Amino acid sequence: MKNVFIMEHPLIQHKITRLRDKDTGTAEFRAIISEITMLMGYEALRDLELTDIEIETPLEKTMSPVIAGRKQVIVPILRAGLGMTDGLLKLLPTAKVGHIGMVRDEETHVARSYYCKLPGELDERVIIVTDPMLATGGSAIDAISFIKEKGGVKIKFMCIIAAPEGIEKLREAHPDVQIFVGHTDRQLNDNAYIQPGLGDAGDRIFGTV
Ligand code: PRP
Ligand code: URA
Repeated sequence: MKNVFIMEHPLIQHKITRLRDKDTGTAEFRAIISEITMLMGYEALRDLELTDIEIETPLEKTMSPVIAGRKQVIVPILRAGLGMTDGLLKLLPTAKVGHIGMVRDEETHVARSYYCKLPGELDERVIIVTDPMLATGGSAIDAISFIKEKGGVKIKFMCIIAAPEGIEKLREAHPDVQIFVGHTDRQLNDNAYIQPGLGDAGDRIFGTV
C-alpha cells in the first residue's frame, strides 16, 4: 500500500510483545513505548532533507551534511501520543512540540477534539503526529485534518499498533500522509478496541487503569 510502512524489525516486534503483556507494569510500558518510537523514528525520518555546511575537522576544512530546513514539529494526540514524544525528541532534540487533545466517546467510539495548540509556519515544517493506537482511525483522521486546516502539508503519522480498518480509513482520508505502523493487528472488537492489542494505551502509560 502506497504511503503505508509496516515495521518488520525483530527488535520492534519483540518490544511490542512486552507491551501487549498485561503483566508489564507502567514504568516498563513507558520505557518500551519510548524505545519503539526511537526505532520507528529512525525509519520514519529517513527522507529528511540534508544540506551541506562547511566545518573544520582537526585535519582540514570539509563540507558535511546536516538536516535542512525549519525545525520539525512533533504532535502527540493526547493523551497516549504523549508517551511517544520523548523518543522522537531524542532523535530531533530541537523539534517543536504541538498538542492535539482527542477523546473517543465510549459509546459511539467517535472522537472529539478538546485541545489544539500548534506552532507557527506549519507549512514549512515536517510534522510527525504520534499515537500508539490506530483503531477506527477517527482520532488520527480528525487530528490530521486540524493540522492541515492550520497549514500543515508535510505530515507523517506514527502508531505502534493498528487495526486494518484504521489504516484503510486513514489512508483514504489523507492519502498524502505517510503512515508508519509497528504492527497490524487482527481486528477491532465490538467496543472498537484492537485485538489482540494492548488494552487502553493512555491508561497503561499514565497508570489510570
Ligand atoms: C485512544 C488512542 C487513540 C484512539 C484510537 O485514545 O490513544 O487516540 O483511542 O482510537 P480511534 O482510532 O478509534 O480513534 P482515547 O480516546 O482512549 O483517549 P486517551 O488517549 O486520552 O486515553
Ligand atoms: N484505544 C486504545 O488505547 N486501545 C485500543 O485498542 C483502541 C483504542
